[in-house]
Amino acid sequence: MNTRILAIETSCDETAAAVIADGVTILSNVVASQTELHARFGGVFPEVASRRHVEVIHAVVDQAMHDAHLGFDDLDCVAVTRGPGLVGSLLVGMNMAKGLAVARNLPLLGINHIEGHIYSLWLTPDAPEIRFPLITLVVSGGHTDLYLMTDHGRYRLLGATLDDAAGEAFDKVGRLLGLPYPGGPAIDHASDKGNPTTFRFPRAVMDAGHGYDFSFSGLKTAVMRQTSQYHSPAVMPVADLAAGFQAAVVDSLVEKTAAAAVEFGATAVHVAGGVSANRALRRLMAERVAVPVRVPPMALCTDNAAMIGAAAHFHFSRGRRDGLDLDVTPSLQLV
Ligand code: KG4
Ligand code: ZN
Repeated sequence: MNTRILAIETSCDETAAAVIADGVTILSNVVASQTELHARFGGVFPEVASRRHVEVIHAVVDQAMHDAHLGFDDLDCVAVTRGPGLVGSLLVGMNMAKGLAVARNLPLLGINHIEGHIYSLWLTPDAPEIRFPLITLVVSGGHTDLYLMTDHGRYRLLGATLDDAAGEAFDKVGRLLGLPYPGGPAIDHASDKGNPTTFRFPRAVMDAGHGYDFSFSGLKTAVMRQTSQYHSPAVMPVADLAAGFQAAVVDSLVEKTAAAAVEFGATAVHVAGGVSANRALRRLMAERVAVPVRVPPMALCTDNAAMIGAAAHFHFSRGRRDGLDLDVTPSLQLV
């Protein structure tokens, strides 16, 4: 079978469309980023995000079809992120997908954004080697979730953040350090010149009793207390602070993930979501985990539609279809 799925993703601040063949081959992958638009607000401004999605969604979908050298008649399905995400942003993608489903007589599939991140690992050259059970860590701007994945579409949530998501902590601390938005990549790079042991920030919930849950708000407060001791950002030891903060986040993510891999006899550890682009996290995870560690290629770590197409393929091939009454669900849960 040769299944071609057009996938659309507009859950936050990237307008994205992609065409995926058989769940594993990327025929096209277009991402129009709004990062510059939101940088002056220091974060995503929902009204501005949805308006920009409306402006560019048609061009992004056309480009994805053009890059794939396909016409709409060559498609088998149109898939779209239905949540979690910003309601106004999700609606733009949903309406576009429904419009195409009606006009082109295509089946429609709504996909969970987190499941999309999880399936970004099936777009790597390693995909044929993937065996269950897996431990999958999803670390993004909105989520820090540790899953045991026992089969396609079968997840058990082992732990999640009790407060801030890891990416959110990176973004907030980036702001405290006077770094540009988004804070994650900025801290990743600033840390190159820093000493991670100059400031020893607290490791979140390392004690027993919290199982596999995470917490980053105490760490953020500790960084804030430290930065408030400097009269201006100009005299802050930004590189050391960034490296110290990053080391604390990475330590707690890696420690819990490694323990889960042992407890559940995982064949491999998968890390997905925007924070999986972090080089210190990739390094330490590979060092501390005994089984293979897989991360998506950099371009598939942050939000994209290729991952939505990969997740959609598994649902499509099992016969799932959604009706035109499909709606967005801003707080959609995976399990
Ligand atoms: O998955 P994503 O694009 O969007 C959500 O679904 O949230 O993740 C965005 C998050 C942001 O918080 C960003 O700062 C973080 O991923 N991020 C990073 C890096 N690249 C992106 N965090 C740490 N290190 C990075 N290199
Ligand atoms: Zn995401």
